[in-house]
This record gives sequence, structure tokens and C-alpha cells, in this order.
Amino acid sequence: MTTSPISSLRCIACGTQHEVTTARFACQSCGDLLAVEHDLDALKQRFGDLKQRFDQRASAFGSGVWRYHEMILPDLPAASIVTLNEGSTGLYSRPAIDAFVGCKRAQIKHEGENPTLSFKDRGMTAGVSWAKHVKARRVACASTGDTSAAMAAYAASADVPGVVLLPHEKVSLEQLAQPISYGARVLALQTDFDGCMRLVKQLTESGEIYLLNSMNPFRIEGQKAIGIEAVHQRGWKVPDWFVIPVGNAGNISALGKGLRELHALGLIDRLPRLAGIQVAAADPFYRAYKNDFAQRQAVVAQPTVASAIRIGDPVSYDKARKVVQGFDGVVGVVDDQAALDAKASCDAAGVHICPNSGVALAGARQLVKDGVIGKDQEIVVIATAHGAKFSQAAIDYHSHDGGPLHNTPRVLPAELTAIHGALG
Ligand code: F0G
Repeated sequence: MTTSPISSLRCIACGTQHEVTTARFACQSCGDLLAVEHDLDALKQRFGDLKQRFDQRASAFGSGVWRYHEMILPDLPAASIVTLNEGSTGLYSRPAIDAFVGCKRAQIKHEGENPTLSFKDRGMTAGVSWAKHVKARRVACASTGDTSAAMAAYAASADVPGVVLLPHEKVSLEQLAQPISYGARVLALQTDFDGCMRLVKQLTESGEIYLLNSMNPFRIEGQKAIGIEAVHQRGWKVPDWFVIPVGNAGNISALGKGLRELHALGLIDRLPRLAGIQVAAADPFYRAYKNDFAQRQAVVAQPTVASAIRIGDPVSYDKARKVVQGFDGVVGVVDDQAALDAKASCDAAGVHICPNSGVALAGARQLVKDGVIGKDQEIVVIATAHGAKFSQAAIDYHSHDGGPLHNTPRVLPAELTAIHGALG
């Protein structure tokens, strides 16, 4: 007996339905973004008590994405899954981080603990599994460094050739090393991320090369698992806020979608508020928010320590706008120094995060200072990548003329007296 599909693909603006097997991710009627839509009633009917399922299933294949398979891609057969045991990342509580942010509890959901050291693995296990399912012969993405690392790893695992378009000399050394090592065709283009994004859209337009940027709605489904897993780790109790860095705006869109579905399915009893934080050097989403989203704006993104979110024209703008509006959300902005100080505080509490995650943490602190987040509230900050992907930022910060929390290594003669002297 064949069962009818639970998921369909629909334009977020005009509602036109598209084949789930399509490799074209702009609406063929109006050009807007597509989203995977699950028939939640059918989902409940077919799978019954999801909470019990998720609680009992420690984690499918060790994956904190496929543990929630029924909510991710319910029509994808388990045999088609390409996984690297992504997800199941830590949710850390540290008094020092609570004190830094200034609210009752500020937990860090550390997505840097994924196999390629960023949250992108969650979306990519879904995206590459689907690509394989629809028999894509080649996959491609544009990236500020993390999407490309993840795509290259999963494409290699699925034995599908991958092409990555990177802005030349605008990604960290570690991020560049990853897709090279995984065997993807790496093209370092003499432009910025937005230039790479424009080109990858053209490159994949015909559908012959399968696009794996977050415009691909199947990736969003995997990325949803961050929020699902975080509230699961909290015993299905939602925090007052989720705070998340925003670049291309796929992640905040995914977070909102997952939380809304959890609510509709009855797994959580209320919705949290969402705060998206941008870095001052690349703040188009913040500018639009300040203008009540009257108009989509693009900027030329400037150099920043938060290089992974150096994006001037976020592709998932429309989805993210709807999420911010639907979750009584806010958008904040912080500068590089605030992001680095936040990162240094978090690192020194034993949770080593990247500068882009520092943006979110600094934003959370600012929102508490501004009275937007209450001092008595609980928040979850999404740390999107590991500090180890951005070691130059840490080395620079901890040098002599670095930041206020710098911890500079001392060079000494190899003598015990010198060591005692240094230790005081
Ligand atoms: N943090 C990190 C570490 C990222 O790599 C990204 C995006 C973001 C935050 C922002 O997430 O784009 O969904 O709003 N990196 C993409 C890339 C653009 O190519 O790796 P977003």
C-alpha cells in the first residue's frame, strides 16, 4: 500500500504549488521563495504521539535532526538519509554567561558542535538527502564559508560532486580548508558573497546543478531541528526568547517555522519571542526592521570580524520578515568590538564560539540593557559556529593590543624561575 505524501512545496507569496522533485527554487509564477508545507493533521494521524516518539527515540543514527524525522521530511524514506551524526549539540548554562547578558538565564545552544563545526550541517543533511532522493547529479552553493564546508562534507558522503562559490579572501583559513579537503570543486571568485549568490542562482537556474543554498526549502526543514532540539532539551518548556545572528536570514526563518509547527502540533504550549541580531557592517535586515519593513533594502556589506554574516542582500528576507512579525520579534545590531567582547566572555566560560555567535550574544546583552528582554526572563542564544573555525579572531583579540578581556600568551626563557615569576 502506498501512502499519500504529507509534504508539499508552495510559494510563500502567491501560494502556487510546485513539484517536490523540482530543482528550481524560485516560484515559477511570481519568483518568490518556496517553502515545504506539512499537512499537520495528516502528520498527527499517521504518527500519533510525536512527543512520546521523540522522547523514546534517543537519536536516530545518532542524529539530532533525524530524531525528529516526522517533522523534518516525513516523506523521505529512512534509507535515503545522508547523515554525519549532526545535531545533539550542547545547551549550556553558565553563571558567567547569565551575568554577562544580565538576565535570569541565558543558555547557549552550541551549534559549533556539529561535524563541520557549524549549524549548517542540520540543513545540509536534509538538503543533500533530498538531493540524492531526487537524483541530483551535481550540487552547488555560494557561501561565506560554513554552508560550503557542510555541503562539501555531505556531498562527499553521498558521493555527489559539489561546486562551491566563495568570495575570494573573505572566508577564514579553516573554512577554506574544509571544502578543499572534502574534495569539492572550490571556486574563489573576485567578488563578495552577494556576488557569489547571484552567480550561483544563474548557474543552477536550469535545474541541472542542484542548488543547496538556504533558498532550497528542504535545507530549512533540517535547520528547524535547532529550535526543536533546544526546547526538547528544556523538557519542552520554551524560553521567553531565542536570540540568533542573522546573515542570509535562512536560520531565523527555519527557527520560526519549527517553533510554529511544534506549537500547532501541541508539543509546546506557547511561542517564544525571537530576536535576530545583525552586525553593523552588514545590517540590511536591521535597517528594514527599523523602517517597519516598509521596504526591502540591500547594502554593500563591509569587512567585519563576523565574516560569515557579511551579507548585503539576504536571500530569505521575506521568510525572515514574516517570522519576526509573527513572533512579536525584534531585530538588533551590534558592532565588531561588542561581538568580540561577547565571544571572549563566552569562550572564557568554557564555551568556545565564533564571532558571528558573539554578535547574537552581544545583541542579547544589549536587549537586556535596553529593557526589551526582561532581567527575570530566560533566553536561548543560538551560537552558530565553533570558535575553532575562526582562530585568527581569537589570536588577534588576545594579543597585547587586543580586546579588554585579552589573555596574552607570555614568551619566556625555558627556566623554572621565569615560570614562577610569571605565575606570581
Ligand atoms: N552564523 C554563521 C556561523 C554562519 O555561517 C551564518 C551564515 C550565519 C550565522 C547566518 O545564518 O545566513 O541563515 O542568517 N552563513 C552562510 C554561509 C551564509 O554561506 O555559510 P543565516
